[in-house]
Amino acid sequence: MKQTVKPIDTANLDHLETASIDELRSTQLKRLQWSLKHAYDNVDFYRQSFDSAGVHPEDIKSIEDLGKLPFTTKADLRDNYPFGMYATPMSDIVRIHASSGTTGQPTVVGYTQNDIDIWADVVARSIRAAGGSRNDKVHVAYGYGLFTGGLGAHYGAERLGCAVIPMSGGQTEKQVQLIRDFQPEIIMVTPSYMLNIADEMERQGIDPHKLPLRTGIFGAEPWTNDMRLSLEQRLGIDALDIYGLSEVMGPGVGMECLETKDGPTIWEDHFYPEIIDPISGELLPDGEYGELVFTTLTKEALPVIRYRTRDLTRLLPGTARPMRRIDKITGRSDDMLIIRGVNVFPTQIEEQLLKIEQLSPHYEIEVTRQGNMDMVRVRVEACNNDVARDPVACEQLAGHLQHAIKTYVGISSKVDVCSVEEVMRSVGKAKRVKDLR
Ligand code: DLL
Repeated sequence: MKQTVKPIDTANLDHLETASIDELRSTQLKRLQWSLKHAYDNVDFYRQSFDSAGVHPEDIKSIEDLGKLPFTTKADLRDNYPFGMYATPMSDIVRIHASSGTTGQPTVVGYTQNDIDIWADVVARSIRAAGGSRNDKVHVAYGYGLFTGGLGAHYGAERLGCAVIPMSGGQTEKQVQLIRDFQPEIIMVTPSYMLNIADEMERQGIDPHKLPLRTGIFGAEPWTNDMRLSLEQRLGIDALDIYGLSEVMGPGVGMECLETKDGPTIWEDHFYPEIIDPISGELLPDGEYGELVFTTLTKEALPVIRYRTRDLTRLLPGTARPMRRIDKITGRSDDMLIIRGVNVFPTQIEEQLLKIEQLSPHYEIEVTRQGNMDMVRVRVEACNNDVARDPVACEQLAGHLQHAIKTYVGISSKVDVCSVEEVMRSVGKAKRVKDLR
């Protein structure tokens, strides 16, 4: 890596970033009580849902009492499309974003000026946790627009005092030209699109190791630690994980710290995390895997109370900061494939194919049904076309990956090793699965 790991510079952190757990919990409780009352008083949906559960915001006397409240789901946001969940009048809203999702109707979110300020603060804090400072130039290749990635990253980088290059997604050749000419130290982009940019650098004969680029802040989609290593080695950077979702805020709900690279620290002073059993809804203790649930503590326009993210992970104790971390997200419960009764996430297949040197990280998974049998086909690109043109090598590589998937993931699959650029490229979130059943 070009960067040596620095100890935490506590002088520059927000007070609550390093506050004791006791101080943090007491701030969280005060903020939680405010947030619940705000939601109850201003959003019909919350008033009805709290009333039908027989709980009033004043009954919440401790953080543990949060468990008495009902969950909120994406369907609730959709049912109140577009603005029914807003807790402030439109005159106080300064920004609207939306996430398209897979089912057509977008989920609409809104922000007051204070929300935008807090969002910029947590993203600034995130970039700082990645070792960034006002001396850095930040190339933002997350999409600008209704997606929260571009503008979220942009405002945070500006807040930290960085020089922002608002490139947005797409125009891969131009991305590379700007990286070469403007020499950013930090790039913020989805990990799958970073791979495309890296391929384009190679095509243009640019050696990323010779660029000042030192840090990648990657998120918006699940990615594995093997992908981290692959990106770090290929680009000579530190690759760090940023987590977030529009309903809760956008990017910057949590961020991995450079010192430890051990999963995103959740900025718990604004977003209170819980893990529940996705089937029973029962609260699980820290350390156990389940579905991540968030309650916003400071958000004005769109407070969310016990919002079910569908992201599967676990809560871990703080390391670089006192606040808790999440483990790398394995996937979303909606992305989980059930193949002949076995639960499979695309990330598990990614983990296996990245272990094979002559395969590239560009892949897609197609699931079909023949009779009543689920069939899985993995299409993965060879690392170069010399390999792709050698049928014996391809067959061996396919056999190797099929075996690894059978052994470590537990399913039979058919692997096709194809030539470079045969797998569809994304400029934002990668779509790994084609479920044709
Ligand atoms: O993806 C916000 C974001 C933008 C996060 C840029 C990070 C960087 P949505 O479009 O609403 O918002 O999608 C949120 O994306 O529930 C996860 O399933 C997934 N996701 C986001 N970050 C990560 C991550 C943005 N670091 C959904 N690892 C979330 C795994 C992630 N999945």
